[in-house]
Amino acid sequence: MKIKRHKKILFFGGFVLIIILIVVFSVFNFRKSELPVACDDRGLKNCLTENLPYKNSNLSIEVRVDDLLSRMTTEEKIGQMALVEKKSVYKQADLAHYGIGALLSGSGAKPKNNTGQDWLLMVNEFQKSAQKSRLGIPILYGADAIHGQAAFPGQVIFPHQIGLAAANNSNLVEQIGRATTKQLNRTGIYWNFAPNLDIAKDIRWGRYYETFGPNPQIVANLGTAFINGSQSEDNFGLEMLTTAKHFIGNGDMTWGTSINRNFKMDQGETQASEMQLRQIHLPPFQAAILAGVGSIMVGLNKIDQEQVSANKYWITDVLKGELGFQGFVVSDWYGVYEVAPSKYDSLVRAINAGIDLVMLPFDYKGFIYYTKQAVKRGDIPQERIDDAVRRILTAKFKAGLFDRPLNDNYEYSELEKAEEQNLAREVVRQGVVLLKNKNEVLPIDRSIQNIKVAGSSADNLGHQLGAWSIEWQGIDGKWIEGTTVLDGIMKIAGQNQKIQYNQLADFEKEEKADLGIAIVGEEPYAEGWGDNPAPTLSQKDLQTIEKLKKQSKKLIVIIISGRPLDIKKYSDDWDGIIAAWLPGTEGVGIADVIFGDYPFIGKLPMEWMVE
Ligand code: BGC
Repeated sequence: MKIKRHKKILFFGGFVLIIILIVVFSVFNFRKSELPVACDDRGLKNCLTENLPYKNSNLSIEVRVDDLLSRMTTEEKIGQMALVEKKSVYKQADLAHYGIGALLSGSGAKPKNNTGQDWLLMVNEFQKSAQKSRLGIPILYGADAIHGQAAFPGQVIFPHQIGLAAANNSNLVEQIGRATTKQLNRTGIYWNFAPNLDIAKDIRWGRYYETFGPNPQIVANLGTAFINGSQSEDNFGLEMLTTAKHFIGNGDMTWGTSINRNFKMDQGETQASEMQLRQIHLPPFQAAILAGVGSIMVGLNKIDQEQVSANKYWITDVLKGELGFQGFVVSDWYGVYEVAPSKYDSLVRAINAGIDLVMLPFDYKGFIYYTKQAVKRGDIPQERIDDAVRRILTAKFKAGLFDRPLNDNYEYSELEKAEEQNLAREVVRQGVVLLKNKNEVLPIDRSIQNIKVAGSSADNLGHQLGAWSIEWQGIDGKWIEGTTVLDGIMKIAGQNQKIQYNQLADFEKEEKADLGIAIVGEEPYAEGWGDNPAPTLSQKDLQTIEKLKKQSKKLIVIIISGRPLDIKKYSDDWDGIIAAWLPGTEGVGIADVIFGDYPFIGKLPMEWMVE
């Protein structure tokens, strides 16, 4: 009897123990599935996600997004809304752990060896780490390829947008979009922070050259051409996600209103009326949406004394509502945190205003913490988070990120490079503007024997490239591949023409040359660092011009700049003046035109007074 009872107790105890174990196990597992769990190093298969509908490329993007969204925790969704600067990634595993949605290389953030191959390796490493997350969601990697993938040496770099506006040839701009997509794709990048659709109203602004100028029609046409070229499906059948920036009224800020104490106009206040904003600044964005632009970046400017990132009317009502924009809205560098004194309030206001992806770009842990709290407290509705993530995921699916195996071979063939060079050279030619031509000094006759060349920008590739080239603020000098204007002159001039060069016009023999060519202009600058109350030539350039003039029977001045420079006071006795903008690596295009092999067809996109 006793033994029987003992057995019964043992049996019952065992049963209870098993039940307890089952309960503990499922609670533990339930809690675990609430967290964004990283897969182990053995790869995605261990996440058991391979056969889920969102992984099935035969299903529509809508169905795939719905499926994926339904599997995500709130935390995972918030992670997708974070855009982080790659140097701020504390450890690679964080990408999967926090489910980070996107990374960027702020210009200048490069791999240790700054080569194309290393860029591809770097982006792929990030991609592999991100895909170890519970659901294996790929990251978007963004870059500022605003005149080609100019982040590392060896590429063909196109003119900055202001030069494209002078050429005003949408066909060429479309081809540049296509070429830029190829340049980025080679490095594993599928998201470009271009084109710039700001309407530039004031030449004192440090970002004037990044724009297609002040004419909304030109901005809309060329911007659309760039988007069409970049996103066209004949780019290896791959997609590029473009970004129309900076919404809205950026370029029309009032001088002296910048919130950045180092700047004057950049990050300032746009005091245009709603009617002006709608008539002048909105049309290019409208055109970009019709062309299928994937994302729109909100500016760092203010309207009605409020950061645009917090402006629900413009972002949600106008952009997403009236204009029907279906892509995602991304904020600009640290932009959301300038909205209110506290990070929490800033995030609540910006996300509720309609920002989908937040360019933090630094502290992602804080972002996830605050945003999670805001959702928990009901300060940010769950539907707003779902809408933001739906837009981001849709863009990722459209860009083919879920379906494409990683490309691990950086290939830049000589043929591809030659094609890009020809394209860049042609657009440089077409953008050269003849500002003055006294006594038909231009085009240069090949019978002219002695030519002296001088000036700070004659043999300086860094000046030709402008900023957003290798470094954010650009580079100085001639240390990467490319053709300077001087190289071009040497190449194009007739065999009997004797070309002498001295940067400061300190020539050994002071005898008069038949012709002097001064190539002068601005040094590179980016963003507010280029805000300048009176853009003109430097004293050094003016002195060089004076010296050269004394040693030349006639004088041509070629200006390499991102905006009109005030030269009225000096230009009276210059015979020829040319605006050559920031032409990029193919300076030879300028020589093609000044020697008359190609006509001057470039037109000023703005006013430029000369004597
Ligand atoms: C600029 C944007 C740029 C972003 C990322 C910001 O400072 O305003 O135009 O896309 O940085 O580099």
